[in-house]
Amino acid sequence: MKTLAKTINNHSTLAVHGGRRPNPYHAIAEPIVQTATYRFENTADLCDYKNAYMLGMADGRLEYGRYGNPTVAAVEARLAALEGADDAILYASGMAAITSVLLSMLSSGSHIILMGECYRRTREFCLHFLKRLGVACDQVATNDFDALQQTIRPETRLLLAEIPTNPYLRVLDVEQFAAIARQHKIKTLLDATFATPINLRPLEWGIDLVVHSASKYLGGHNDLLAGVVAGEAGLIASLRGPLGVLGGVPDPQNAALLLRGVKTLALRVERQNHNGLHVARFLNVHPKIERVWYPGLETHPDHEIATRLMSGFGGVVSFTLRGGLEETSRFIDALEIIQLATSLGGTESLIIQPALMSYYELDSEERLALGIPDNLVRLSLGIEDSDDLIGDLAQALTKV
Ligand SMILES: Cc1ncc(COP(=O)(O)O)c(C=O)c1O
Repeated sequence: MKTLAKTINNHSTLAVHGGRRPNPYHAIAEPIVQTATYRFENTADLCDYKNAYMLGMADGRLEYGRYGNPTVAAVEARLAALEGADDAILYASGMAAITSVLLSMLSSGSHIILMGECYRRTREFCLHFLKRLGVACDQVATNDFDALQQTIRPETRLLLAEIPTNPYLRVLDVEQFAAIARQHKIKTLLDATFATPINLRPLEWGIDLVVHSASKYLGGHNDLLAGVVAGEAGLIASLRGPLGVLGGVPDPQNAALLLRGVKTLALRVERQNHNGLHVARFLNVHPKIERVWYPGLETHPDHEIATRLMSGFGGVVSFTLRGGLEETSRFIDALEIIQLATSLGGTESLIIQPALMSYYELDSEERLALGIPDNLVRLSLGIEDSDDLIGDLAQALTKV
């Protein structure tokens, strides 16, 4: 089988062919190897495998599903190629990826810093679960690099951030973030789920590990959960053993679905960037909208950074309506194309009022203290026609 030239670096091509490897059937579509375990012919065959494995020469041969699967390996090769990484590991979900990496890299007495708004469950894991295991965690505002410098301690092992953040789509100055980490010899982990490898390649800016919830743009069809971590070969190798212990491995069927989704990633993200910008511009001048957050708008606090680092601004737009909890719900209920559901990055446009989704159990004042007003809306644009989406938003706003 012909291998892809190393000089091929265009995302549209890498999404279809990156990491391409032969299979025994010469099948164009990656075979789904749906097995939990692997056979040995006899004890001598098993011992040969064990000896080869110990020398790192098992050559793709496998022992048990928790330690590896060929379909999963094919997805890992594709995602590594897309990120410009040596290697990648696929996990059962984005949270399985994040928690496995943190548990693998940190030990009692170490310290980590979260920069900016982080996905709520990531923050919960760091502030509560890791704390119970003796790992201290501090938080610093996005792009406050003086505060970051002052918060770094001798025992700081990891800096963790997201790009763009949820829900205000703040864009980290990845270059400065990575430079400070290197100066202090601290590893960096960047959750680039909202950015996608099409709009940003964090490893090229000096980040050590990039993580994605592949349940979002990479899968892209709202039909699977998965997570991925990509980076330099040695670092990724150090995470494989712990995954076999922690067990958050993906299912081969899911891996195949993900591989199919990834083939159209560049096309989908291109359309989602287009839809994001058009919808943000429409909302930005609408009299019933109070404020819009989208990195592609000049009014966004990180517009300059986003323009410098990213090749597209993404498909998520956040905004506040002129009104309260009820008016905002009435707007969402009046939408006909855009559906009320959490998550993002899929072909279908989805919308949420965070006050009634992720923060439902809190009262209005508690939510406000966390920066979540009742009239805040997060809209994830799908790949529908932008005029139809704008039409849907316009008709729903007349109901407010
Ligand atoms: C930025 C970000 N990271 C991680 C996750 C967790 O991913 P998963 O739902 O695949 O576990 C999410 C989920 O919403 C997310 O938005």
